[in-house]
Amino acid sequence: MVAAINHVVWLILAVSALAHGLPGFFEKRTASSAAVNKTVCNGQTFSYDSLVAYGFLSGSSVDDYGDTISFGSSIAIDRPSIKVSAGKTNYSAVAYNLPDRGWNTQGTTNFQPRVYKFQLSFQPQLAGHFAPNAQWVLEDTIILKDPFGNPLTGLDCDTVLHFPGFPDIPAATYTGDGWGGKGGPASETKVCLDPESIVLVNGTGANGFWISDEYGPYMYRFNSEGLMVQAIRPVDALIPIRNGTQSFSADSPRLFFTESDDITPANPTSGRSNNQGFEGASVSPDGRYLYVFLQSAAVQDGGLDKTTNRYSRLFKYDISIIDKPVLVGEYVIPLPQYVDPTKSKKKNPRTAASSEIYALSETQFLVLARDSNFGHGQDSSESIYRHLDVYDISKATNIADIEKYNVINGAVAPDGVLDDAITPAEYCAFLDVNVNSQLGKFAFQNGEGLHNGGDQDWKLLNEKWEGIALIPADGKNGADGEFYVIIVSDDDFMTTHGFVNFGRNAYRDASGFNLDNQALIFKVTLPSGVAPFKYFSGGTN
Ligand SMILES: *[C@@H]1O[C@H](CO)[C@@H](O)[C@H](O)[C@H]1NC(C)=O
Ligand SMILES: *[C@@H]1O[C@H](CO)[C@@H](O)[C@H](O)[C@H]1NC(C)=O
Ligand SMILES: *[C@@H]1O[C@H](CO)[C@@H](O)[C@H](O)[C@H]1NC(C)=O
Ligand SMILES: *[C@@H]1O[C@H](CO)[C@@H](O)[C@H](O)[C@H]1NC(C)=O
Repeated sequence: MVAAINHVVWLILAVSALAHGLPGFFEKRTASSAAVNKTVCNGQTFSYDSLVAYGFLSGSSVDDYGDTISFGSSIAIDRPSIKVSAGKTNYSAVAYNLPDRGWNTQGTTNFQPRVYKFQLSFQPQLAGHFAPNAQWVLEDTIILKDPFGNPLTGLDCDTVLHFPGFPDIPAATYTGDGWGGKGGPASETKVCLDPESIVLVNGTGANGFWISDEYGPYMYRFNSEGLMVQAIRPVDALIPIRNGTQSFSADSPRLFFTESDDITPANPTSGRSNNQGFEGASVSPDGRYLYVFLQSAAVQDGGLDKTTNRYSRLFKYDISIIDKPVLVGEYVIPLPQYVDPTKSKKKNPRTAASSEIYALSETQFLVLARDSNFGHGQDSSESIYRHLDVYDISKATNIADIEKYNVINGAVAPDGVLDDAITPAEYCAFLDVNVNSQLGKFAFQNGEGLHNGGDQDWKLLNEKWEGIALIPADGKNGADGEFYVIIVSDDDFMTTHGFVNFGRNAYRDASGFNLDNQALIFKVTLPSGVAPFKYFSGGTN
């Protein structure tokens, strides 16, 4: 019932907004002059106004099933739930957060992939020094299941399963209980999922969600109870190929298995690179198009080396008939590069892979691009590149219908050199997350504030930032261009007080580190006409 009402509201808003010529969205906007940074992309100005909130959830928190929570592989806000207090001092909304494939710093495990439903609230502060001002309260834990209702697994894939009406689905076979215990059937095969992005169907979790996966790489749709109802298999150019045939392993050995399970060859010869699948997904403001983004270049596009893997691909599916998605766009996206001082000259510059996207319009996207191996729990604490940047695809070549790029071995950038027939997307650096003068506003207990680089303490930013969500500052449709951008980090379940296997087994991460689930919230002003909430006018209550 709720879903039906939201659907109707969505349509009415779309129609009335069009009929009224979208007042507000095309007015000239002037970003605050005190902005931290401004960027011009395709002639339009994006403004980073301020870092306004920080919040965290302890890394030793557990979910409704007694398992350790890691909340930042992705995040999506339930639009009808957004509430703003009088005076706009307190914002709240239901947030759906996605954990990665489970605790896997020492090997992949039989974690059952899931979605957390949180009540998020925050009290933005434009200036001054303050304590954490974003709160996360767990409301529900939704376990994901295959089309027959059976559990999924985070274990590395070694086979496929067949379901009526579905393409071949990557799967993993194991013996015992998958946690080193002897119990359980002789052998089980479950759908393997390495979840990286969550998108709510028509803006509300009541309609279910799309989840992107990096084993396949596939896109899956689940209903609101977590049952898989649809799968999108990508173009053949992305399917991992070993020995001339599809092979979905990410060469991610399993923790509780004694026999060697390393795959040969380790890397595919065509398709997505290991652990560089569909990291990002989003929908157009009107809900018609689903966008899916590969984390870095495919193997045949220079994907096996950080110095050549910058030409990634963005796919656009028309989902207006949701059960019959049609690929209507495919674009080459040049990822940013940075110089890693810990690496030799030959190993630089390196690609900052993409961890998430958010569609601001049909042609512009926010992207989380970052380095790796720097931050809390890593050998080196200072990250060099951790950004929210902007892509504009309006002038990029659409290669969706060009067969030679989409078949097995079909390359757009052999050895990392872009084919001259292709115009890539425009890339615009925008918001540097690592600015210590902004981070330092969060100074608690009269000590040092949040920081990038420096001591390995709980105020040091985590390595991985992987989720983006927006809340309009007006709590409605954001006609004034002012938005709060929430980003969340994936702490890799790194804790010395961890629980897995539905609370039955305790674990201690070998690193000895205890990381928190961290979230940062920025205030930004988007250019005139860029209106991600154009077809939405606020919560229903
Ligand atoms: C903010 O609003 C939410 C939802 O109404 C409420 O639960 C929370 O207590 C409020 N927080 C503050 C600090 O006012
Ligand atoms: C989403 O909204 C569109 C109209 O914009 C509608 O056609 C579609 O059925 C809705 N999908 C779901 C699953 O609610
Ligand atoms: C590929 O072929 C080699 C050599 O025959 C074999 O050792 C290896 O296990 C094969 N790998 C896969 C994934 O089939
Ligand atoms: C400001 O934007 C420029 C690009 O215009 C970018 O290189 C820089 O990192 C940004 N700085 C901050 C503090 O966000």
